[in-house]
Amino acid sequence: MKQYNVGILGATGMVGQRFATLLAEHPWFNVKVLAASPRSAGKTYEEAVGSRWAMTVPMPEKLKGMIVRDLNADMDSIVNDVDFVFCAVDMKKDEIKALEERYAKAECPVISNNSAHRFTPDVPMVVPEINPQHLEIIEAQKKRLGTKKGFIAVKSNCSIQSYVPALHPLREKFGLTKVLACTYQAISGAGKTFETWPEMVDNLIPFIGGEEEKSEQEPLKVWGTIENGEIVKATAPSITTQCLRVPVSDGHTAAVFVSFEKKPTKEEILDLWKNFKGEPQELDLPSAPKQFIHYFEEDNRPQANLDRNLEKGMAVSVGRLREDTQYDYKFVCLSHNTLRGAAGGGVLLAELLAAKGYFD
Ligand SMILES: NC(=O)c1ccc[n+]([C@@H]2O[C@H](COP(=O)([O-])OP(=O)(O)OC[C@H]3O[C@@H](n4cnc5c(N)ncnc54)[C@H](OP(=O)(O)O)[C@@H]3O)[C@@H](O)[C@H]2O)c1
Repeated sequence: MKQYNVGILGATGMVGQRFATLLAEHPWFNVKVLAASPRSAGKTYEEAVGSRWAMTVPMPEKLKGMIVRDLNADMDSIVNDVDFVFCAVDMKKDEIKALEERYAKAECPVISNNSAHRFTPDVPMVVPEINPQHLEIIEAQKKRLGTKKGFIAVKSNCSIQSYVPALHPLREKFGLTKVLACTYQAISGAGKTFETWPEMVDNLIPFIGGEEEKSEQEPLKVWGTIENGEIVKATAPSITTQCLRVPVSDGHTAAVFVSFEKKPTKEEILDLWKNFKGEPQELDLPSAPKQFIHYFEEDNRPQANLDRNLEKGMAVSVGRLREDTQYDYKFVCLSHNTLRGAAGGGVLLAELLAAKGYFD
């Protein structure tokens, strides 16, 4: 496979650190640029991150001494040195929108973890196993941007990555009418650890700004269709959510209730989950989990602490499937929010784009 030089914008942050860890040994992608704010620029990666390193594995040796660049001021030199960038920055939404478009217009594709462009109609928001066909919209986006190579592709919010994979094969075969999901979200989703957010020890906060809207609307774009150069959102199912912050370091859990157009049997649901494969599995992409959805028979699984790292944090764990008195069925899902839900999902999307020739 061809090799690509890549940059990480926001390399010093929580998601950026995950990218650095995942990409340091990647078989196709070589990290050439680490970039962040002017606060970090000019320092080595090790100095810039300092005590903020939040990964359980040490900082990759080969990145420690790399000088961090300013993702705004140094854009021209960054674009020269890489084939594409991953982007995960904590800035105002309109600033992120403008930043990502500037990189794309400078012919540098952007694989983004930020929410800024998720609802731009010609920007694909892709869960590689679910809607790889949405990459076709990139041609229309390039036309709008006036680029040959530059484009923006985004991944969805971490909250939906636990339950949308489990719902997807059911939706295709049996039609979903109603979904209710309560999410129990880890503190790393806010870029925090228990050291930096001690108030979360022995606590629960029943509000995450903007999260319920994302959790209800983003699945409809992922299930949308391409019409006249835009992705038009699906109209069903109707989705309602409540999103809570819980004292878990990593791993978002969702308690899901669902009703169908045509109610399947429990065996039919389990069979669809067991056999659900997408393009990442068919193309054998380096970050693809072998088995995307793992079903646990035990009543007390999945558990964040035990199951979030399944298949290097790229698989989705599901359990407790049973009939419900008000909906057809209910079950519980778990996914690793900074792996599958953030950096890992971004890397898998980039692998899919690379395999399909979008960076050439
Ligand atoms: N954490 C998750 O689980 C998760 C999941 C999905 C998506 N996301 C999204 O990913 C993005 C990053 O999240 P995070 O948790 O990694 O945030 P974070 O830990 O706060 O990191 C923020 C990064 O942005 C950089 N930055 C901040 N202000 C900047 C500025 N004015 N100019 C240039 N760079 C600036 C920081 O650089 P300095 O270190 O130099 O300040 C740092 O590298 C957010 O959009 C978030 O919504 C996060």
